[in-house]
Amino acid sequence: MPIDFDDTDFDVSQEEVPERLIATSLNMGDNEDNSLRPKALTEYIGQEKIKDNLKIFIQAAKQRSEPLDHVLLYGPPGLGKTTLASVIANEMGVNIRITSGPAIERAGDLAALLTNLDDFDILFVDEIHRLNRSVEEVLYPAMEDYALDIILGKGPSARSIRLDLKKFTLIGATTRAGQITAPLRDRFGMVMRLEMYESAELAQIVSRSAGILDIAIEPEGALEIASRSRGTPRIANRILKRVRDYAQVCAAGVITKDVADDALGRLEVDRLGLDATDRRMLKAILLNFGGGPVGLDTLAANIGEEAITIEDVYEPFLMQLGFLTRTPRGRCITEKVYRHLGYPLPEDSPAQMTME
Ligand code: ADE
Repeated sequence: MPIDFDDTDFDVSQEEVPERLIATSLNMGDNEDNSLRPKALTEYIGQEKIKDNLKIFIQAAKQRSEPLDHVLLYGPPGLGKTTLASVIANEMGVNIRITSGPAIERAGDLAALLTNLDDFDILFVDEIHRLNRSVEEVLYPAMEDYALDIILGKGPSARSIRLDLKKFTLIGATTRAGQITAPLRDRFGMVMRLEMYESAELAQIVSRSAGILDIAIEPEGALEIASRSRGTPRIANRILKRVRDYAQVCAAGVITKDVADDALGRLEVDRLGLDATDRRMLKAILLNFGGGPVGLDTLAANIGEEAITIEDVYEPFLMQLGFLTRTPRGRCITEKVYRHLGYPLPEDSPAQMTME
């Protein structure tokens, strides 16, 4: 759909992109400590399949002197989508502009971002599933033909012009691939799913971060933090900083396995990495809803959390652990939850019946 400039405050001649649209180096869109972000693919730990493919696509694009094709990254929060986008920009040797779906309110906002890009630059749009439809439609010709269709004037004298853009790469990120419309998804040349990290990979990330932050840590201490960080680097780095505080004030300053274990106990993070909210949610299903099924909204109201937070932040890991299932009738917990929380199995559970 062409952009009607009577509906926007975008000025084609404007030089500056409004500040609200872009994340700065202090606010990279996901509150992560920039010093901890890897710069090169060789420094980026884990996601091996994605890295192997990206290496080839980046080398091929560079050899042909072309921009990288558009990339869609999806997966649960905290797995390093923004980090990977900035690694790609570094590897391509281009600039990156970081923005998010909800920040781009009008078609003119997107036009301002796109017209300020240089050849091969990367526009990173986090939460791309939250773009509104009229903005999304401006993206289609931009992605396909590097062009914007613009209507100037009104009524019979209105005319449509096509504004050429530089050849850019769009990297979209989302936690909800299912909410991306088919026309948008089809315009990405690469769709990549980030997986949760293995403990050994997370331990490498924790040790690397500790080195950068000048924190003394033993390998067993790093592994203890890693195995209780829900497969998520953002959580591992956050826990590392809290355990450092504890080691500094209550121990000898070195993060050993025991120090990490003590600190994680105080933070109410259990052996599997579940926090107080995970346990509250599981207990609510167990005690208030007979183990489920319970609808998402009912559960959210019961524990005082937002449904979207439960879906995006808590459920992926609980499902990965095999603690929770999503059924058409609602959420159910599995027998593993009864054992983990120390409750007797329900009377009608298959395990209970075979024990009798
Ligand atoms: N920090 C966050 N994600 C990372 C990764 N995959 N490798 C290294 N450091 C990271």
